[in-house]
Amino acid sequence: ESYDMGGHDTYMHKEIHEQVDAVDRVLRGRIDDRFSTVRLGGLNLDAREARGVRRVKILGCGSAYHTGLIGAQLIEELARIPADAEPASEFRYRNPVVDPETLYIAVSQSGETYDTLAAVQELKRKGARVLGVVNVVGSAIARETDGGVYVHAGPEVCVVSTKCFTNTAVAFALLALHLGRIRDLSVADGKRIIAGLRKLPEQIAEVLRGEEEIKKLAAEYANAKSMMFVGRVRGYPVAREASLKLKEVSYVHAEAYPASELKHGPLALIEPEVPTVAVLPDDDLLEKNRATLEEIKARSGRILAVAHREQEKADHTIVVPRNEVELDPILMGIPLQLLAYHTALALGRDIDKPRNLAKSVTVE
Ligand code: AGP
Repeated sequence: ESYDMGGHDTYMHKEIHEQVDAVDRVLRGRIDDRFSTVRLGGLNLDAREARGVRRVKILGCGSAYHTGLIGAQLIEELARIPADAEPASEFRYRNPVVDPETLYIAVSQSGETYDTLAAVQELKRKGARVLGVVNVVGSAIARETDGGVYVHAGPEVCVVSTKCFTNTAVAFALLALHLGRIRDLSVADGKRIIAGLRKLPEQIAEVLRGEEEIKKLAAEYANAKSMMFVGRVRGYPVAREASLKLKEVSYVHAEAYPASELKHGPLALIEPEVPTVAVLPDDDLLEKNRATLEEIKARSGRILAVAHREQEKADHTIVVPRNEVELDPILMGIPLQLLAYHTALALGRDIDKPRNLAKSVTVE
């Protein structure tokens, strides 16, 4: 992929549409069908070391942190290693306890974000093993880490991350599968996840074919006073990222909450002028999520659902194709990139260069 606009009016639009090829690229040459796993040449972590990992801690900022939330869930689900993500910007300031049995992973598109780099340097100084999940080859974080996985999204110009976010989530799925197959993930589950990964490019293309519909929805919701984004477990990082993206590019205020937390406070915000975007994967939490939709409806809230089938409690549903449940966050984020994009377009925003923001924050 090049810096050429390729017929698109903005880099954001171009980069959203490049995701079909970008995901194909992050998978290419890495799948090992013989052992139902993946090969990650730059990881620098042998099987014995991988078995010794007791915890995983993922660090990144902004959208990168949100992919870390997805990554932590994937690692817990597929490799059964306790994992969590934390903003690198917080981690570096709180004198963290550095544990030799924890594998630290720094995630960054640019590889130059100062907060993430400072967290890596502090970890390295304390003797931790740190891997990178990075897009820019040879960047500072790529150089300072002990090994890692390149994301291969290609150059991302728009300040708002789209294709790199998706590719990073796929890179985490590869890492989780790799760790899982070294530990207790069965051959059958390995095959199942590989089949799901291979379906992603075509399924992303299918989501993108629904753009006109999403554009109409964006026009309908663009004048909202504020937007609420909710999801449970796998849907929650998607809600967080979609809320950030909408804020960044359209300047519409948005909040993201776990759906389960609504009744502990944010439900007070719900009114017709504050619509909710609900991320509802068809997993074992769907019924609980539907109950949340009822709570929102009872407060006259409008609902836009992103789901695998029409949701009758919602005012509108964007239907995304099914894949393996573990991979749901990857596909479900994509229509919400388009929603943010078309909301910003409808409001006449400077899409590739939102006010007050830089592509990478290389200073303290
Ligand atoms: C991208 O949408 C964001 N503007 C921003 O949150 C970004 O993800 C963050 O600053 C981290 O950047 P990095 O991935 O280059 O480290």
